[in-house]
Amino acid sequence: MKNRTLIIFFYFFCFAYLVRSKLVTGKISVDFLISKGEGKGSKGISNFSIKNNQINITHNGTEFMGVVYLTHLNFGGYDLYDVVSVSKDGNDFLVVYLYCHTGTSQISMLYYESYDFEQCVTENATGFLDAQHFSKGVTKEIDFSMPVLKTDPTPIQTNILIEGKEISYQNANTFHCKLHGGLYKVSVFSTVDCKDCPNFSSGWYELHSILSNGKDRCFGIFYLNLNDHKSVYLEYLFCNPSLTRPKMSSYVANWSGSLEQISQH
Ligand SMILES: *[C@@H]1O[C@H](CO)[C@@H](O)[C@H](O)[C@H]1NC(C)=O
Ligand SMILES: *[C@@H]1O[C@H](CO)[C@@H](O)[C@H](O)[C@H]1NC(C)=O
Ligand SMILES: *[C@@H]1O[C@H](CO)[C@@H](O)[C@H](O)[C@H]1NC(C)=O
Ligand SMILES: *[C@@H]1O[C@H](CO)[C@@H](O)[C@H](O)[C@H]1NC(C)=O
Ligand SMILES: *[C@@H]1O[C@H](CO)[C@@H](O)[C@H](O)[C@H]1NC(C)=O
Ligand SMILES: *[C@@H]1O[C@H](CO)[C@@H](O)[C@H](O)[C@H]1NC(C)=O
Repeated sequence: MKNRTLIIFFYFFCFAYLVRSKLVTGKISVDFLISKGEGKGSKGISNFSIKNNQINITHNGTEFMGVVYLTHLNFGGYDLYDVVSVSKDGNDFLVVYLYCHTGTSQISMLYYESYDFEQCVTENATGFLDAQHFSKGVTKEIDFSMPVLKTDPTPIQTNILIEGKEISYQNANTFHCKLHGGLYKVSVFSTVDCKDCPNFSSGWYELHSILSNGKDRCFGIFYLNLNDHKSVYLEYLFCNPSLTRPKMSSYVANWSGSLEQISQH
């Protein structure tokens, strides 16, 4: 091989290495195990495969790796499985909810969101998952790996204001909060308006966000209950690269505004 060819190959491999984010490996404690699963969506998600809660997903040509970390059983007639995943280059985060009709192992719908699009997407799906739910109080540690998440999303505008001792949201670029003592910058990348969701007594808003403290980026959902303008709850946390799941946090804070007129990025 000529030297020049070697140099070209060298740069090619360096480039291929650089565009992949480092993988982090850890353990997570879960109260269910999905030994096996696979499927595909009807539009954006071309395929996914699951083994012992570790999941690989391809969305619009981009490969994501992550974990099925939570379930919501019998949620409006469905069993939901929550997935957090990071693209192999570390620059995009994809949250997916796998929907099975309650008590079945057939996946019929996917609901997902990422840094790339502001609104959640729903699509029909086919596939299955073999899930085993442990008895109350029983958990199991599973090993998994995922790429390091390297970037924050561009925060969206929401028209919501929050003010409390440990949380302040006056505009998209200055949202911050305390979480178990540490200070985090918050970027909202997607919202859910459950003002009129069927079969739930009173409505709520959700701010799906990334909390960042310079070392760790944590996905979490802020809940604003429409019948309580004096509290805010932060739930379903999952942090990368620490691969920890901080406990939920509640804030005494006044909040106002509505999600009705969302503007673009
Ligand atoms: C999706 O399908 C392609 C082509 O068959 C395969 O290479 C890839 O590994 C699959 N991805 C997942 C997440 O199963
Ligand atoms: C996901 O992809 C990695 C390599 O990219 C592979 O080692 C692993 O077995 C895959 N896992 C699943 C559940 O397909
Ligand atoms: C899919 O990816 C292509 C480029 O890779 C992009 O131009 C297109 O907008 C993406 N489509 C969706 C629906 O995200
Ligand atoms: C909502 O409740 C109605 C009446 O109880 C029931 O018929 C319907 O199936 C429920 N919808 C869902 C999504 O659970
Ligand atoms: C999903 O499937 C249902 C029926 O199974 C159909 O009515 C609906 O149009 C489908 N939605 C999409 C987005 O394909
Ligand atoms: C919420 O607003 C009320 C009335 O303006 C004020 O008295 C209270 O201190 C505020 N609470 C917080 C946590 O800022």
